[in-house]
Amino acid sequence: MVRIVRATQQEIQTGVQALRDGELVSFPTETVYGLGANAQNPAAVRKIFEAKGRPPTHPVIVHLDSPRFLHRWVREVPQIATRLADAFWPGPLTLVMPRASNVHDVITGGQDTIAIRVPAHPMAQQLLTAFGGGIAAPSANRYGRLSPTRAEHVREELGDAVRVILDGGECQIGLESTILAFEGESVRLLRPGSITATQIRAIVGELLVGPDSASPRVPGSEPRHYAPSTPMTLVPAGEIDAQADIASSGARRVAVLAQRLPLRAHKYATWINAGRKPESFGRDLYTNLRTLDKAGCYRILVQDVPDGDRWDAIRDRLRRAATSVAESNDGTGTMAVLP
Ligand code: TXA
Ligand code: MG
Repeated sequence: MVRIVRATQQEIQTGVQALRDGELVSFPTETVYGLGANAQNPAAVRKIFEAKGRPPTHPVIVHLDSPRFLHRWVREVPQIATRLADAFWPGPLTLVMPRASNVHDVITGGQDTIAIRVPAHPMAQQLLTAFGGGIAAPSANRYGRLSPTRAEHVREELGDAVRVILDGGECQIGLESTILAFEGESVRLLRPGSITATQIRAIVGELLVGPDSASPRVPGSEPRHYAPSTPMTLVPAGEIDAQADIASSGARRVAVLAQRLPLRAHKYATWINAGRKPESFGRDLYTNLRTLDKAGCYRILVQDVPDGDRWDAIRDRLRRAATSVAESNDGTGTMAVLP
C-alpha cells in the first residue's frame, strides 16, 4: 500500500539543521528517495559523491519547492521549458537548462547546464520550503545500483553516511524522473520516466529521443546501471516458463520477475508476478529486484515488457540492469542460460 505521510515540523527541522550543517539528508520524492545536500555548499555536495561512490564528474539534480527561485540557478529559462514546468511541476520531470554563473562545478560536473526538478511529494515539499534553498540530490543508492523506493533501502545502501533519513513511505512512482534537455527550439528526452513521450509531445510538439553525441552527459544512461548484484537476463514473454525450467535444471535456484503467475510449478524458482499494469509494475520494480537479489538465486530472469510508451521507462531500466545479450543469447533466438 502506498503511504504518504507528513513529517512533524520537528522532524523537518532536524533535516533542515543537518542540511545547514553541511550533512546529508535522505528524503522521499514521488519517484525515488534522494540523497540531499545543500546545493550552495560544495563541500556538502562532495559528501554525496563519497557516500555513493559516484565519479565526481557526474552532475546532480537541484531540487526546488517551486519555480520561484529558478533564476538563482538557471541563466535563461527557455520558453518551452516554462510550458513544460507549468504542465508537470511539481512532479516527476527534470529540466536541463543553461546554468547561472554562480552555480558550482560540483553540481554540474563542469558542464554549462544544470538539471532542476520540483518534486511533488509532500515531505520533499515540506523539507524544501523549510530549508528555503536548493537541495542537490541524486538517488540515494550506491553508484550503479538499484534506486531506493523505501526508507529502509536507503539505510541498506548508505548506512551511516547519511545523517537523517526522512521516512515518507513507499515512493508512488518508483522510477526516476523523466529528463529533458533543450537544444535551440528543440526538446530532447535524455531519460524516460513516468511522464511519457506522448505526454511531452502534447506540450512541445516534436521531441527528439535519446542522447546524441552533443547532448549533455547523463551518467545514469551508462550501459550497466540500476542493477541488482545477481546477473539478470531479459526473456521474451512467451518463453518465461520454459526458460525458468532450463535455468533451474540441476536444482539451481533461479529468480523470476514475471507479469503473470507461472503456468506450472517450478520447484527451484522464486517467482514474483508483478502484473501487467505499467504503473504498479514500475512502482514495485526496484523493490521486487531487491527481493529477488536476496533470494539466494544464481540468476534473475525478467519477462520482457510490452511495447508502448507507458513501458518506456521500465524497459529502459531493465535493459540497463540486464547483462549483455551476447552473454546470454546463443544467436539463434533461444537463450542459453549460463551457469
Ligand atoms: O527522480 C529523480 O530524478 C531522482 C530524485 C531523487 O529526484 N534523482 C535522480 O538523480 O535520479 P540521479 O543523480 O540518480 O540521476 C540524475 C540524472 C543523472 O543521469 C545525471 O547525469 C543527470 O540527471 N543530470 C544531472 N545534471 C545534468 C546536466 N546538467 N546535464 C545532463 N544531465 C544531467
Ligand atoms: Mg541514480
